Formats: sequence, structure tokens, C-alpha cells
Amino acid sequence: MRILLLTHAFNSLTQRLGSELRQLEHTVSVEFDISDSVTEEAVSLFAPDLIIAPYLRRAIPESVWSRYVCFILHPGVVGDRGPSALDWALAAGLTQWGLTVLQAEAELDGGPVWANASFSLPVASKASVYRQHVTEAASVAVLQAVARFTSASFVPQRPASSYWRPMMRQTERAIDWQRNDTATVLRKVRAADGFPGVADSLFGQPCHLFDVCPETTLRGPPGQIIARRETALLRATCDAAVWIGHVKRPGGIKLPTTLAFIDESATVPQAPELDWWRAKSPTWQDICYEEVDQVGILHFEFYNGAMSTVQCERLRAALVWAKQRPTNVLVLTGGTDFWSNGIHLNVIEAASLAGGSAADESWRNINAMNDLALELITTEQQITIAAVAGNTGAGGCFLARAADLMWVREAVMLNPHYKNMGNLYGSEYWTYSLPRRVGLEAAKAIMHNRQPLTAKQALQISFSDACLPGDCNDFQETVLHLATKLAAAPDIKAQLTTKSEARERDEAAQPLADYRQQEMTHMHRNFYGFDPSYHVARHHFVYKALASWTPRHLAIHRELGWKLP
Ligand code: COA
Repeated sequence: MRILLLTHAFNSLTQRLGSELRQLEHTVSVEFDISDSVTEEAVSLFAPDLIIAPYLRRAIPESVWSRYVCFILHPGVVGDRGPSALDWALAAGLTQWGLTVLQAEAELDGGPVWANASFSLPVASKASVYRQHVTEAASVAVLQAVARFTSASFVPQRPASSYWRPMMRQTERAIDWQRNDTATVLRKVRAADGFPGVADSLFGQPCHLFDVCPETTLRGPPGQIIARRETALLRATCDAAVWIGHVKRPGGIKLPTTLAFIDESATVPQAPELDWWRAKSPTWQDICYEEVDQVGILHFEFYNGAMSTVQCERLRAALVWAKQRPTNVLVLTGGTDFWSNGIHLNVIEAASLAGGSAADESWRNINAMNDLALELITTEQQITIAAVAGNTGAGGCFLARAADLMWVREAVMLNPHYKNMGNLYGSEYWTYSLPRRVGLEAAKAIMHNRQPLTAKQALQISFSDACLPGDCNDFQETVLHLATKLAAAPDIKAQLTTKSEARERDEAAQPLADYRQQEMTHMHRNFYGFDPSYHVARHHFVYKALASWTPRHLAIHRELGWKLP
């Protein structure tokens, strides 16, 4: 079939569905929901057999849904309707939830049901549930709905009963710092994270809160900001305290809290310092290390996978330290939502807002990222493994590829290319790592085509070394099991010797410094040259500017020469 994905953005859910439908040999094209007339134009160009709307913020025009079957994905159970489905479910502390594939009609979320899937609702942020549980359920339910649509005998039914829940308002999300305990504060913020956050204030100034984590040992008067650690501030609740990792000030962008309130945070006392070992009780620790037998595990979890200059420098320091440990294998786990999405575009944008230079901060950030990648590539005493449980994009993919082995969870989407960010050339030694893995022609195609890869596709083209099933917990268990086996292999020392010899040969053929210098020549032009595309694209990305067209590489019906078969 010809299937049109009508969507607000090419987010990871849309990417996943597109890849899975193509695997079933459907012809898939994408159109961004820009206006009714643009949607109508796309439909007349593509003449789809079916329209699927994975992620919309507006209703589909009647001119389209009255002529074509349109599937709407609603992140709620059958009968649930309204725009804040996940927010209400998380705020209520429900433990089971679901996703429904409905047919679009005049009444919002009121059409007949083509398929649905349910899942256990974890204690996690809304964005995390969306990227993992909703996406997984969507992939099952959409494929079932498409099969039913193809069979022509299936008649979708209206739910026996339904209810409409309105948009959740900030008054319903508000935190009472004098009365709310830690569990309540965490639940409220997580139900609003990544968007819209909880409207609150810090240092008497309004802001929206995101990215929270419990603290169990430090205490203070309820509501008071009692400590800082790295990028987070600790605020007391009525029974303990909560770390606040990110905030958005009015008119601003989402930033690490101590950067958004840089002067005010400087007056807050430092929390007791932690070393790299994993803390015994829950606290804010974005980088930590543990050991199991001969395996070192370096955990790092950066919000949204974005890695600022300072975060790269700290992670490199932790890596240098971990490399001195008496282990044979070193696993880098990354976050569960994102392994890494490369340099921190929001922090870079903030540099220009503070009267500094976004180009200078971009340069510092990519150099810090490269130093980290170099440290990984040149590890001698351990086999290194990037254990990729969450999505990863741009420089994050090549940081992972800097490890000897890259093991990817089956549900992960990879975007190993840079050009979408204003034609960025990219660094992280990709010119060294990518062609060696996939060959020169495939490397060029990956960079040029800018298409996402599923974990299975990444393995098929040898970009990665393993595709492992299961949820994040299953994945971590499998990784640990396989890493422990590898560390205990009788020939592990021989494997390390072979690795060192291969690195020496590569270095003799072309030094890593050469690859870096060539990449950075291009990056210098991206950051400081006459073409401002990168700065414009970054600005639009961090301010979430609405798309005004669909990129040609996604909208095949807009390709020159496109003809209906
Ligand atoms: N810097 C700062 N924030 C980033 C980021 C980065 N490099 N990459 C992603 N984010 C943020 C997004 O702004 C979004 O923020 P929100 O919490 O306010 O919504 C959040 O992470 C999730 O991103 P989203 O685009 O919704 O996730 P996705 O899974 O649908 O798509 C990517 C993933 C990687 C395709 C997409 O985020 C992307 O293109 N990121 C930019 C990658 C990049 O160009 N990095 C710089 C070059 S190395």
C-alpha cells in the first residue's frame, strides 16, 4: 500500500512506524501537519491507500478524513479521549495504561477502534513513557490495524463507553511545597515532563520545572533550596527533598537549572561531593561507576541525551579513572531514554543569550566531545562496549561507535548523521569509524540520505555489533551477562593484544589526529563561516519553531519526477 504518515514532527515514534511499515514493503511517505491546504495537497499528490497520524497537535481536515481512512494514535486506553491522556494517567499513579488506534472522524478521539495495546505504566516521566512504552505499544497496534485494514473483512467498532478529559491545566499540576511529600512532587513533575513542565518559581522567579530525582539523606525546611550539585538544585519537600535538573524561564529555553539561575545558584551551598562510585542511596548522580567481577560499568544519564562541554569533560575524567581499574571489559551504559544526542544545543544557544558566542561554545563542545571519543578509541586495557538502551542521534551515534563493540536494544532508533542540523559536517572521528564499519559507499549514503536506522538495520549493515531484545532492564541484564562472559574468556588477553595491534596499524596508515583535523576544518566553517545554516537550524530546534515544509528526503511525493504508479 501507499501509506502517508501525517505528523507534527518526524519524532522517534514516527521514525519507528515508518521503518516497520517499509519492512513490510509498503511505500511510505511523510508529510508534516503544517496547514489543511498543505495536507490536502500531499494527499492529492500521493493518493494514499491509508493515512496514519502518529503524532498530531490539530485535527485532520474533514476534506481528508471523509475521503480516506485515517488512523489516529491516541496514547490512552479504549474509550479515553482528550489531549492530556498520559498526563492524567501518570498524575493519578495508574499502573496499567494503553494505546488505541482510532479512525479519524468529526468528534476528536471519538471514531471507531481499529486496534489497541496495553502496557504497565512505570514510575517515569511522560516523555520516557512515550518514547518507550507508548512507542512499543504503537508498533504492535499499528501493524495489527494495518493488517486488519488490508484484510477488508474487519469492521472497526466504537467503544461501548467513552469519556473526555480536558487539557490538564497548571492549577492541576501545581506543587504545594509546604504540604506535598517527595513522592507527590516527583509524580507531578514527571506527569508534565518533557512538556509543558510544572509552573513554579525558584528564587522568587517564575519557571517551569523538569527532570526531577529524589534525595534521601539531605533535608531542610519545606520549599527551601538547600544544596546544589553540578547542574541541579535540591529543594526540600515536607518529608525529604527533590533534585531539579532542568527549568525553563518565561520566554526562554529549557536549560540545566544552575545555568538558568547562574547568579542565584552560586549562593547555594554545595552538596557533599561524590566520587565516581555509585552512591548507596538515591541522589543526583549523573555519572557513576560500578564493577561486577572483571567488568566495569560506567553509567551516564544526561537529560535528553544532550552533552555540554562540562558534561563531556566530566565523563572523560570518569572514563580516564575507570580505565585504571583492574577490569577486562568496560561498558558505557548511557541513558535509558537516550544514549546520547551529541553536543548540547540548548547550552550552546544559551551562550549567545548571555552575550557570549554560540560559535565559540559549539567549538568548545565539539572539542570536548572529541576528547571523550579519543579517550574511548585509545583504551588499551579493556574491551569497551557501548550498551545502547535508548535512542541515539548525530554525534551520540559516533561516540557509541568509538567503543570496540556497540550493542543496541532492539527497540532503539539510531540517527547516525548530522546534516539535519543546518548541514553540519560532524566530527567525533566519524570519518575514521564509519567507513571502516560499513564501507565507503554505504557511509556516504548514510550521511547523505539522513534516514533513521532501526537496531536491526544497524546490525544488518554492520554499523553495530549486536541487536538485543527486551525492555531496558532485560537489556542491561543481557549486556552484563555477555560482558561478564567476555571478560572471563580464556583468550581475553590475546583479544586485547589483537585490538592494540589493529589500532597501531590504523594509526600508522592515518593518525587519528588527521581525521580530527579534517573534520574540524569543516566544523570550523559550519560554526564560523559565511553560511549561517547551522546557527539558524539550531535556533529553530531549541525554540521548537513550527516546520514550514516537509524535507524532501522524507516526503517522497514531493520529489521531482514523482508519479503515481
Ligand atoms: N541538544 C539539546 N537538546 C536536544 C538535543 C541536543 N543535541 N537532541 C535532542 N534534544 C532535546 C529536544 O529538544 C527535545 O527536548 P524537549 O524535552 O524540550 O522536548 C528532547 O531532546 C527530545 O528530542 P526529540 O527530537 O523530541 O526526540 P526524538 O527521539 O523524536 O528525536 C533526534 C531524536 C536525535 C532525531 C532529534 O532529537 C535530533 O535531531 N536531535 C539533534 C541531534 C543533533 O543534531 N545534535 C547535534 C550534532 S552532534
